Amino acid sequence: MEHIASRTRNTHTSEKELSSMSININLELTDHCNLKCTMCSQSMRDEAHGVPHRFMKWETWRESLNNLRDFPDEIQLCPHWLGEPTLHPDFDRFISYAFGINHNNQIFRGFRLHTNAVLFSEERSRLLLELAQLPFIKDDTFNFIHFSLDAFSKDTYHIIKGKDTREMAYRNILRFLALRSKLGYLRPFVSMGFVVQPNNAHEAQEFLNFWEQNLSDHSVDFDWQHKECDSIYFRRLNTDNQEKSDLLFMNTLSKLGFEQTKLMRGTESF
Ligand SMILES: C[S@@+](CC[C@H](N)C(=O)[O-])C[C@H]1O[C@@H](n2cnc3c(N)ncnc32)[C@H](O)[C@@H]1O
Ligand code: SF4
Repeated sequence: MEHIASRTRNTHTSEKELSSMSININLELTDHCNLKCTMCSQSMRDEAHGVPHRFMKWETWRESLNNLRDFPDEIQLCPHWLGEPTLHPDFDRFISYAFGINHNNQIFRGFRLHTNAVLFSEERSRLLLELAQLPFIKDDTFNFIHFSLDAFSKDTYHIIKGKDTREMAYRNILRFLALRSKLGYLRPFVSMGFVVQPNNAHEAQEFLNFWEQNLSDHSVDFDWQHKECDSIYFRRLNTDNQEKSDLLFMNTLSKLGFEQTKLMRGTESF
């Protein structure tokens, strides 16, 4: 196999799909990244997979997708694993191809994009919004984009993300939301990500306030959401001292007024 394909089984526990199974497939477009987040294993190693960082070849993408056609299980596709997918020089072409061949969801049932939003131009926003509305796929195929922000202020962003791109990322997301609303589309929903850690916990409240003001119908979540709306997602930090990071998570969110029971680690957390 030329590149990385990770498969994990996934049990849906939403009310609608209580016992159905689906498979998450991560087809990693690249393990390069344009940021250096302090908590991320991608930025801790020069060789994320034991070989130098690479970009996926077109043939690998095309063949991998076509091999999924009529696969018996339901496929949830993500174009990332460790790196930043939008950094791939042909990101738009790759994603357009995937959606273009997905007639009647024969290739994948769901698609999720995780990005740091630094390379998220108006053209790219428009393209992704249009792909989500294609008439030959189910309405909820491109259900959400997760934006990994992890900070509110410029200074904290710089400390956590390793670069001074806070304004760009925030501006890109706000423009995406404005465009989605102007076009009258609901999807993709957005999930505003904040991994709670010692260097950003003090601004969880400001992050929450800002996104509450800028999202209309939304939920606040502490685990991966399967809801039909935008989300502000506070995520616990995965570390080698999990007890300590869980405690910081609980304390930070309790101070914001969230009930302890809602903050407990769910069975699907990872
Ligand atoms: C590895 S990134 C790859 C995709 C993209 N570059 C991004 O940042 O969204 C996938 C997700 O992992 C999260 N992440 C990275 N390190 C983490 C950690 N130690 N604990 C919890 N989440 C982490 C990031 O916030 C991001 O949402
Ligand atoms: S942007 Fe994503 S992949 Fe890059 S270092 Fe941050 S969390 Fe890791």
